[in-house]
Amino acid sequence: MAQDETPLLDAWRRAQRSGKRPMQIPGHKMRYTLDRKGWAADLIGDTVRDDIVMQGGVDDNAYSHDYLGKAEALWAQQVGADASRFLVGGSSQGNITAVGMVADRGVPIAIDRTSHRSTQAALVISGAVPVWIYPRLHPEFHLPIGMDPEAIRRVPEDVNGFFATSPSYIGTMSDVASLARAAHDRGQVLIVDQAWGAHLDFLPEGGAVRNGADISVTSVHKALTGYSQTAVVSIREGRGFVDRSTLDRWVDLTTTTSPSGTLLASIDATRAAMARGGRERLELLMESVAQARRRLAAVPGLIVLDDANAGCRVDPMKLTLILPGTGVDGTALGNALFDLGHGPESSDRDTIVFTASVADEPEWILAFTDLLIGLIESMRQPGRPMAPLAVWRVEPEVVVTPREAFFADRRRIPLRDAVGEVSAEQFCPYPPGVPLLAPGERVTAETIEAIQTAGKVGRVAYSSDPTLETIEVIDAV
Ligand SMILES: Cc1ncc(COP(=O)(O)O)c(C=O)c1O
Repeated sequence: MAQDETPLLDAWRRAQRSGKRPMQIPGHKMRYTLDRKGWAADLIGDTVRDDIVMQGGVDDNAYSHDYLGKAEALWAQQVGADASRFLVGGSSQGNITAVGMVADRGVPIAIDRTSHRSTQAALVISGAVPVWIYPRLHPEFHLPIGMDPEAIRRVPEDVNGFFATSPSYIGTMSDVASLARAAHDRGQVLIVDQAWGAHLDFLPEGGAVRNGADISVTSVHKALTGYSQTAVVSIREGRGFVDRSTLDRWVDLTTTTSPSGTLLASIDATRAAMARGGRERLELLMESVAQARRRLAAVPGLIVLDDANAGCRVDPMKLTLILPGTGVDGTALGNALFDLGHGPESSDRDTIVFTASVADEPEWILAFTDLLIGLIESMRQPGRPMAPLAVWRVEPEVVVTPREAFFADRRRIPLRDAVGEVSAEQFCPYPPGVPLLAPGERVTAETIEAIQTAGKVGRVAYSSDPTLETIEVIDAV
């Protein structure tokens, strides 16, 4: 098939226009599709209007036309993979799938400790033992600037493989080709969480798979134009580390049996749009982001992360600002922008991150830059030193595996009394979704302080007590 074909999108469109009145799921019976009116349409109509299920909707009950498989093959061809699977559970599902494919119960696997919380779920499911790799930290900005290939070489030989995150939440990128070489030299597999970098697959230098990763996970809804929740996991089988049947087994384990054809068709549509003119569109946007960076860098006291000052490549579609020199509080700036309808990807006291995409117009990026500069000037204060964010520096003592901790008997105690105990749960500032404390890790005075500090300025997710006053610890080690 050719890249201008859209097998899944076409089938979705046919189903949408078909006037079907199914005697099977979906429960809304497609009564709200197009201009038809169903029961309680005033409440239900808008939200499910475009919802077409895969099974018995986009395809028949037996999936006999394999529209999904054809669309997945086109994605794989586009990004240089041997196989790709579309996901409706985001890169979260992708990470669980990817780590699950490689991990074994009781066997170490080397994972970047700044990886997204979903890798923890994979560790719980698989029972693997995490060997954490810490990212290189920028000496001045204290931000993660990618995984060092040397770190791979230093890891004990008995690990099953490596998991790296690139780009990071703040846009810093690892040299995936060097990581792949370092892993492959040891005869081991490299997984790359490229959740933030779906656009890289459509640029000449390619994404994680083209650069040597054996498995890559990418969100179509973050940097590209897929429906929320959409992601793709792709593999390169050639080196013999991973194979299609293991991929299918893990995708099938982690997915719903009723995936939304609408979500999946939006992946096919995005791939075709990117194949048609995506590179040119990206180049246009990347140039306006570069222009925005130059303008922002001229603001006194403001540092704009880029290839020159970061010590690594920075995603050309990200704007990451380091604020202390302006005295501006990033959380307050983020809130002000959110109130204006232009919420940032993330903001903490010292940094604020913005994501541009192909759906932005270059003129908007520049207009937004002017607005941002105006806000920064209006909120300017005397400069202050940088206070490094704790999530990028966590170096935990792993006492038991995440799986053992997750299933262990537990008791609740005041967080302030928990020093020395082993956590049964996760405390995860969101964004960036990197756990400060994860199941199986020793609680220290520093972690408690970091949790309390994070709780004062934002959401600390996934802990059982939202007040952060108490913690569940494992009963006996
Ligand atoms: C690095 C990273 N990986 C994976 C994910 C999960 O992606 P999704 O929201 O598509 O499940 C996120 C979410 O923010 C992330 O930051």
